[in-house]
Amino acid sequence: MTANAPKRGLANKSSNYGDREFALYLRRSFAASMGYSRTMLEKPVVGIADTASDYNNCHRTIPELIEAVKRGVLAAGGLPLSFPTVSLCEPSLNPCSMHYRNLMALDTEAMLTAQPMDSVVLVGGCDKTVPAQLMAAASADIPAVMLVTGPMLAQRFEGERLAACTDCRRYWARYRAGDVSAEKIHQVEEKLATSAGTCGVMGTASTMACIAAVLGFMPLPGASAPAVHADRLRIAEEAGFLAVHLIENPVKPSQLLTRNSIENAMRVLLSIGGSTNAVVHLAAIAGRAGIDMELGWLDRLSEETPVLVDLKPTGDGYMEDFHAAGGMGALLRELRDLLHLDCIDLYGKTLAERIDASPAFVDRGIIRARNTPISPVGGLVALRGSLAPDGAILKRSAATESLFEHEARCIVFDGLEDLANRIDSDDLDVTPTDILILKGAGPLSPAGMPEAGHLPIPKKLARQGVKDMVRMSDCRMSGTAYGTVVLHIAPEAAAGGPLALVQSGDRVRLSLKERRVDLLVPEDEMARRRAAWTPLPKPKRGWDRLVHEQVTQAPQGADLRFLRPDGE
Ligand code: FES
Repeated sequence: MTANAPKRGLANKSSNYGDREFALYLRRSFAASMGYSRTMLEKPVVGIADTASDYNNCHRTIPELIEAVKRGVLAAGGLPLSFPTVSLCEPSLNPCSMHYRNLMALDTEAMLTAQPMDSVVLVGGCDKTVPAQLMAAASADIPAVMLVTGPMLAQRFEGERLAACTDCRRYWARYRAGDVSAEKIHQVEEKLATSAGTCGVMGTASTMACIAAVLGFMPLPGASAPAVHADRLRIAEEAGFLAVHLIENPVKPSQLLTRNSIENAMRVLLSIGGSTNAVVHLAAIAGRAGIDMELGWLDRLSEETPVLVDLKPTGDGYMEDFHAAGGMGALLRELRDLLHLDCIDLYGKTLAERIDASPAFVDRGIIRARNTPISPVGGLVALRGSLAPDGAILKRSAATESLFEHEARCIVFDGLEDLANRIDSDDLDVTPTDILILKGAGPLSPAGMPEAGHLPIPKKLARQGVKDMVRMSDCRMSGTAYGTVVLHIAPEAAAGGPLALVQSGDRVRLSLKERRVDLLVPEDEMARRRAAWTPLPKPKRGWDRLVHEQVTQAPQGADLRFLRPDGE
């Protein structure tokens, strides 16, 4: 190696003792204590971000996946070194996993930039882990392969197929309505998630996997191969090979994340009837690359992008069906004329080449042709209006069409505790046509933007057979949920947006036709309420304090300002 050649492997990113040769000597000595030979220690290094955790069921297979990645790295001539990072499992965190997505991104970015590695395989899967890892990769800008754990399998129970978590919500709604007994709901509890892997529907985890694939961070089949399928291990092995290939043939995240590739990702998001959460995550990933993913852009694409994939919560199937139906290759072939085909992947192949190389088979029961779509327009719409001056999102593919144009009085819940205390009260003055509003649950709030936007139908209405109502909030809902639910209202209540000022009894209007959500309160009354509004106190210390000082609103991805490229 010449003196000016870039440093590789353990010689890279030296620790500082004031003597670089000693620093490398010391590093090798300590690495040798783990039993590595000098030959191995001189190889290029592939880092492997290990997010296995006993708190994360969705990542249960990661030890086996890492073994397969290492096999690929070793066979290709690299030294695989795995390292732990923060791991986030959706139901395991308080106040919610979203509150910690940026912490995981910060932790991962720091480890990618501080430790010697020539490329990295990021192993994640559950909702927040893939966005966090892609955000970190974008900021660290080293060659990074995304490997997801893959979806769980649906299992049969009393003649129907079940998988987390659309079916969890469906059964729970029936239980609340009195259609399902306490005994049955306990029985079903162990039948909803019966194999390793991420939620088995087109929820956030699956949506983000599809997005990572179209962005080029993984081979196309990597988006959908089930967690327990042998394909998944072969994909992991290939990730190891690819990571070594990238050392001599680098393709960096900054080459993958362009305006055109982000547009491709939005097309995919819309065509799969994907999760509303992916809008926030994709905005954060794009933001790390200096790309402003404004909501109007998504909305324009939504008008000309059909929903083609028939999976829950929009349709009927599960991720394993999508994989067997041809997966991302078959979907992208169908969308071909809507895509920027010159975007490259980690192999440097164009999207056109990737589509052409995909198997021709397609199961039309799951992946529809363009002329027989599930919906001729995309699954998501962006809204604006006096209640959401900076935007809001609604998943129309999972909403009730008769509620698309709706004006009514609203019932307001001021935070999660108020919601929990009153939603099922017999005294709650509510009718099926009312609009339910939850405020105080956005990214700046202590709630941290949880998946509480799918407000439960008040028990007394659920028992009358009410299945859907218009619901609005500044928080998110699970990608596995459904209903006429306006989400991510910005500015949020905690930031002093109009949502902070809404009161029970106010009239609110939703119009999908006009893409508006309006609070019908006279301006002088709004001014009076605004004058009386006081912001929440700052958290005293720690992560909560940093979030409070730095977090952006949902349309900017709810990232931390100082982690964006301009630090603003
Ligand atoms: Fe991890 Fe659904 S809880 S993917």
